[in-house]
Amino acid sequence: MNTENNTNEDDVKKCKELISETTAHGCRNIMSNKRSNFIRFLWLCYVIGMGITLFATLYMGLENYWTYPFNTVLKIGPQPKLKFPMVTICDLTYLRVNRFPNPEAVRKVFLRRSILNSMMAINESDKGFIEVTNTPLDEAHTISNVTVDDIFQICIWKGQTVSCNEMWIPLFTDLGKCFVLNDSLNYYADSDGSHGGLNFIAKIDQEGYIVDDNANAGLKIKLHDPHEDPRISDSGIYLNPGGACLMSVNKKSYTFLPEPFKAYGDEYCVVNSELSGQKSKPTSIKYDRESCIRSCVVIYVIKGCNCRSVTDSEFLTYPMCTIGQWLNCYEPSLRIAYTRNISQYNCTCPRVCEFNVYQTKLSLGMFPSVPALEILQKLNIIKKKSGGRYSWRTDGTVPWCKFHYSGGIHGDISFIPVV
Ligand SMILES: *[C@@H]1O[C@H](CO)[C@@H](O)[C@H](O)[C@H]1NC(C)=O
Ligand SMILES: *[C@@H]1O[C@H](CO)[C@@H](O)[C@H](O)[C@H]1NC(C)=O
Ligand SMILES: *[C@@H]1O[C@H](CO)[C@@H](O)[C@H](O)[C@H]1NC(C)=O
Ligand SMILES: *[C@@H]1O[C@H](CO)[C@@H](O)[C@H](O)[C@H]1NC(C)=O
Ligand SMILES: *[C@@H]1O[C@H](CO)[C@@H](O)[C@H](O)[C@H]1NC(C)=O
Repeated sequence: MNTENNTNEDDVKKCKELISETTAHGCRNIMSNKRSNFIRFLWLCYVIGMGITLFATLYMGLENYWTYPFNTVLKIGPQPKLKFPMVTICDLTYLRVNRFPNPEAVRKVFLRRSILNSMMAINESDKGFIEVTNTPLDEAHTISNVTVDDIFQICIWKGQTVSCNEMWIPLFTDLGKCFVLNDSLNYYADSDGSHGGLNFIAKIDQEGYIVDDNANAGLKIKLHDPHEDPRISDSGIYLNPGGACLMSVNKKSYTFLPEPFKAYGDEYCVVNSELSGQKSKPTSIKYDRESCIRSCVVIYVIKGCNCRSVTDSEFLTYPMCTIGQWLNCYEPSLRIAYTRNISQYNCTCPRVCEFNVYQTKLSLGMFPSVPALEILQKLNIIKKKSGGRYSWRTDGTVPWCKFHYSGGIHGDISFIPVV
């Protein structure tokens, strides 16, 4: 034996000693002289097989960890007190034509844009027609002058009559002048059932209605969160005149996990309070995706038409659209912009992690009953019509609407990380 071999053998020996002393007894069994070669070979196979399984399990565990899995938890329970949703209400006429000096001309200008237009001969070189077409939009709304009193007759909160003027705040939307609940009054519902919420009697005056693509009469209504753009021209519920409605509301709150957890397929969500100011409604500090998309898209519409609408208080450097520009350029462009693939406008409007969904169930009845009609006409809440041109079912009549939470049940959906 030479010295080189000697040191080599020393190392092998030390190695063997180490293996035979290890607590992993599989290794000890491989090295044990007491066992036959066949048994030692079997032990070797076991140890290698187990080793591979161990590493595969570790790898899978780590891979699973880096994909950030989560559990979805649905909590359902009664809430003693629940913030009432924001309510936005629009009368289904963009302007009130009967307040203009030449109502017929205004009606014709809007009719020109409607689907009924092809069946009518409208003389566009008429002096009145041109005058109306060139009226700036803000001036038209000043003439139209829709006030809270024009829409609301009686407002009731939890069974108490309250001042409609304090309860409703005017707000310009793509449907004209609408009204939204005064958030500073902090409406909280503390009971369910139809006496625990908001009631109102509204007035529909179809004499002032325009006819455009939308030939409906009544109100449009949308429930949403205070910081949210209701986007009422694209969504909401119709309430018809002559009807009583009972709307029960169910609130569901969603809470997604922020980055690095994935919230919407391959997207991440943002915590609402992180992005604030600039990209939300001017009146709110909370970020809202719908407001963000609108302010991103509307700038292309304003540049394309070279004018702004009454809704665009943040783009004061552009001139106000005339009724003609609004009808022929702004409104159709905005509609196309919204129906197109929004991502082509390069808007960076991430989705939010926390939001509420208000599910509504609406049932309709007839309002008022025949005896109540007489009383309401005596009280001058419903105008008596002479000549029978309109029946009380279609004009001057009022939907009586009650909104309330149903069942006091509040669904809370959360996503919690798997640990
Ligand atoms: C349209 O109105 C203009 C001006 O009032 C008038 O000169 C013209 O004849 C009218 N055209 C038709 C087809 O009635
Ligand atoms: C709008 O109507 C209200 C009440 O009907 C009235 O007080 C106000 O002066 C009107 N505004 C304009 C600009 O005509
Ligand atoms: C909203 O409600 C507050 C609190 O009652 C009131 O001071 C305020 O005048 C209301 N806003 C409007 C526009 O009426
Ligand atoms: C919308 O645009 C994105 C990016 O430009 C594209 O990946 C997607 O396929 C488009 N979707 C539709 C429906 O056109
Ligand atoms: C969006 O970004 C792409 C690539 O940067 C650009 O080609 C396209 O014109 C942009 N779209 C708009 C509407 O600005």
